[in-house]
Amino acid sequence: MAQDGQSQNIDALMAESRTYPPGPAFTEQANAKPGFYDQDHDEFWEREGRERLSWFTDFTKLKEWDRPYAKWYLGGKLNACYNCVDRHVENGLGDKVAYYWEGEPVDERLTITYADLQSRVIKAANGFKSLGIGKGTKVAVYMGMIPEAPVTLLALARLGAPFTFVFGGFSASALGSRMQEMECEYLITQDAANRRGKPGPLKPTADEAMDMAPTVKTCVTVKRTGPDVEMKEGRDHWWSDVVDGQDDDPKSCPCEPMDSEDLFFLMFSSGTTGRPKGILHTTAGYLAGVSTTHHYVFDIKPDTVYWCAADIGWITGHSYIVFGPLINGTTSVMYEGTPDFPDKARWWQIIERYKVNVLYTAPTTIRTHMKWGTEALQGHDLSSLKVLGSVGEPINPEAWIWYRDNVGGGKCPVVDTWWQTETGMIMVTPLPGVTTLKPGSATKPFVGVKAAVYDESGKEIAPGDGAGYMVVKEPWPAMFRGLLNDDQRFKDTYWSQFSDAYLAGDGARVDDDGDFWMMGRIDDVMNVSGHRLSTIEIESALVSHPDVAQAAVVSRSDDTTGQAIVAYVTLNDGAEGTSEKLTELREHVGKEIGPIAKPANVVFADSLPMTRSGKIMRRLLKDVAENRELGDTTTLADPSVVHEIKERAESGKEADKEG
Ligand code: WTA
Repeated sequence: MAQDGQSQNIDALMAESRTYPPGPAFTEQANAKPGFYDQDHDEFWEREGRERLSWFTDFTKLKEWDRPYAKWYLGGKLNACYNCVDRHVENGLGDKVAYYWEGEPVDERLTITYADLQSRVIKAANGFKSLGIGKGTKVAVYMGMIPEAPVTLLALARLGAPFTFVFGGFSASALGSRMQEMECEYLITQDAANRRGKPGPLKPTADEAMDMAPTVKTCVTVKRTGPDVEMKEGRDHWWSDVVDGQDDDPKSCPCEPMDSEDLFFLMFSSGTTGRPKGILHTTAGYLAGVSTTHHYVFDIKPDTVYWCAADIGWITGHSYIVFGPLINGTTSVMYEGTPDFPDKARWWQIIERYKVNVLYTAPTTIRTHMKWGTEALQGHDLSSLKVLGSVGEPINPEAWIWYRDNVGGGKCPVVDTWWQTETGMIMVTPLPGVTTLKPGSATKPFVGVKAAVYDESGKEIAPGDGAGYMVVKEPWPAMFRGLLNDDQRFKDTYWSQFSDAYLAGDGARVDDDGDFWMMGRIDDVMNVSGHRLSTIEIESALVSHPDVAQAAVVSRSDDTTGQAIVAYVTLNDGAEGTSEKLTELREHVGKEIGPIAKPANVVFADSLPMTRSGKIMRRLLKDVAENRELGDTTTLADPSVVHEIKERAESGKEADKEG
């Protein structure tokens, strides 16, 4: 069912039988009460939509479902920025902290209240407006973890300008192609980001990207690190020149009333073919979905200090650093940098300093901390923690237990949340205080989410009856509304395998208690450190190198990153692979896609195993990558090829793992 490489993982998960029922004291105070799951789905979303959001015009109809097209909260008018910022200030919460921001170096700290945030957002919105950004203007954002990042998203939301935020680790060509695909007219970026004591340049990369995306006519750059970057006359503006002198009176820049179904933002995600998919999210359903799940899944109280340690450039950052928490008027922590700089105690210092109650992170980071050992944790008071969250990939029980015991002091519920860029919001998750936890299981679908596991023929697999395809049978508010410029691909990828359900692309099983166990991707998407990467995208990057004749990319399991990328490459004219070539190819992939896509190993081969019809047999390469007995080779045109590759791989012609 799942990719072969994960079968060992699955066996381990199958054997996991520990359970952790909720403690009575937690249950007593939990936002989700017993009986939470018994609510009628439509009534639930109707109520949450009305109570959690403020509407300029009430919606008149909860939803419309003309498969695969969903609409939610029809007829409503609202504004995301108003919901995240202005109304809290109007309600007397202006002095409440919205973000504790900590930069790199760590002594650079800001306490941004909701009133401060409003002032910053209105100035930015007025500045953007002065450059011509308005309702419907398409804008790209390419930034690191600085306060201007959420400020920019909120300012664009205020003006009704749809945006795409491209992760700061992506390359010029990744940014350029995304901007081009969306036909962005503006780009908001920063000169460079601080990372491990060095500036990581963004504006120079953005310059290269703008050369590829001629629709972008105007660029605004935040000065974060200096020294100066190149500024192109007529196109490039400094943030300080555009924003600092602007009015911050709410009346100077009213929040644009948006229709519930107006395009809110686009998030590009790796797909099974080379081209990234532009995943479309609209306004009201997305906001209702992320804020509702945020409230219940993390048990958010008025005084909760919440920290989602993801990057704002991924969907997790959008939903659970910016929009979900701000709608709920929550105090969040946001930081610039990495967990190991200036030392490996950075995170634990942050938790201690701000008395963080909720930590939300990814299994790969948990495993990294685990590898570093518990010394870094010692001497840090982590007793403020109440709930621990995990997202991005299946969490192995060992990491789950380590997280619970060493970070959570054995007392915090661990919520393993399964969801996707496409789902917009958390879909399968424990509810702290309600759900009996099992290490490695995301447990139950959230109320209002009708998830199931189907077999090949589209029949629902009963609890305890084995593994199949993860599907969702009913629409949910934060679901994506389509793929940019590619309706056919939208239908083919997600809605054609089964006639009555959304195909998530993950393998899963449901145990006898009705708990879900996620088993990883079933398509050509890999999950490296919680980031989705397409094998085909990396193959295209490799063959775009002039020396590469052919490339096949597979993943192997990795203790820290979940999966690691292994590339098999044949060079032109039968050239032999050298370690210089290997470094060059890794750098090339890094430049084409981004450093996260660099293969951990490159194996040079004279030819790749092909079927007689010319298809590369990735399954066999995966066996090699995983160091397993070779599977069936009878359909190969030349079975000796794969044995040769296996020998080469074993003789150690591999890249050093640099991560
Ligand atoms: C995987 C990230 C198991 C899954 C929010 C999914 C998970 C993909 C979990 C989406 C989890 C995410 N358990 N697998 N708790 N969370 N995944 O779009 O394969 O970057 O399809 O969204 O990550 O990745 P994406």
